Amino acid sequence: MSTRWDPEQYARFADHRARPFVDLLSRVGAGSAGLVVDLGCGNGPLTLSLARRWPDARVVGVDSSPQMLDAARSLDRERRVEWVEADLATWDSAGLGAAADVVVTNATLQWLPQHLPLVGRWVGALAPGGWFAMQVPDNFGAPSHRLMRETAADHPARERLREPLRRAGVADIARYMEVLDGAGCDVDAWVTEYQHVLDPLGEQENPVLEWVRGTGLRPVLETLTDPAERDAFLTDYGSRLHTAYPRSAIGVVLPFRRLFAVGRRRATRRPG
Ligand SMILES: C[S@@+](CC[C@H](N)C(=O)[O-])C[C@H]1O[C@@H](n2cnc3c(N)ncnc32)[C@H](O)[C@@H]1O
Repeated sequence: MSTRWDPEQYARFADHRARPFVDLLSRVGAGSAGLVVDLGCGNGPLTLSLARRWPDARVVGVDSSPQMLDAARSLDRERRVEWVEADLATWDSAGLGAAADVVVTNATLQWLPQHLPLVGRWVGALAPGGWFAMQVPDNFGAPSHRLMRETAADHPARERLREPLRRAGVADIARYMEVLDGAGCDVDAWVTEYQHVLDPLGEQENPVLEWVRGTGLRPVLETLTDPAERDAFLTDYGSRLHTAYPRSAIGVVLPFRRLFAVGRRRATRRPG
C-alpha cells in the first residue's frame, strides 16, 4: 500500500528528524563529489543540505510521494536539485547516466519490503571509492508502535487495519553490515537511541501522537476514512500514548532507536 504523505505534518519536528541525518552524514568522508543521490528524499531540506555540502555536485532526490516532491521543489528556489518521482522498489540507477559518488537514504528503507537486495544493487553501482549512507528507525517494538497495533486490534475496523499496519520492517544491524561488505565496502555502523525532548513549552496536547501522525500512523489514518472511526482510534491511541510517554519537567521524552550504516566502496577487491 502506498502512503500519502503530509509534508507540513512531517516538518513539525524538523529539528529532531534532521539530527540522525546530520549524524549519518558526519561519517561520509567524500571531499568532493560529482553525483550525489538522496533516495527517499522527502520534503527536501535535507537534500538541499547535501547540495550545500557538495556545491559542485549534481544532486538528485528520488521519492515516490508527489506531495513530498511538491514541497521539495518549492523549497528549492535555485533549482539546485533534480527531483525525481519514482518507486525505489523499481527505480533503476542506470537512469542517472553516471555512477554516484554518494548515495544517501535516510528514514526510508523501512517502507520498502525486501530492501536488502536493493541496497546491494545500489552499492554495486557506486563509483569506485563512492559512499553509501543509510539510516533506519528500529522502533517496531517501541510503545509508540506496539500501542498502535494494540489499539488497532481493539478497534471495530481491526480487519481493515491489518494490512496497513503490516510494515516492511528493518533487518538487524549485522545484516546491513554484511550486505555492504558483500557489495565491496569498508563498513562503519552504529546504533543510537535518541532521547527526543518534545514540546518543552507544553503547547501540544499529545506530542508523541503528533510525531507519529507525520510518519508511522499515516497508513492507519488513510484507511479510517470515516471520521467517527478515525476519532475513536485517535482517542484510544492518544490516551495509551499519554500513559506510555508522560510529561516530565523538561517536556515529553520520546526514546527512539535508529540503525546507521555507512559503506565506502573499495577501489580494489579484498584479497582472499
Ligand atoms: C520518513 S520520510 C524521510 C524523508 C527524508 N529522507 C528525511 O530524512 O526527512 C520517508 C520518505 O520515503 C518515501 N518513500 C517511502 N516509500 C518509498 C518508495 N517505495 N519509493 C520512494 N520513496 C519512498 C516517502 O514518500 C517519504 O518521503
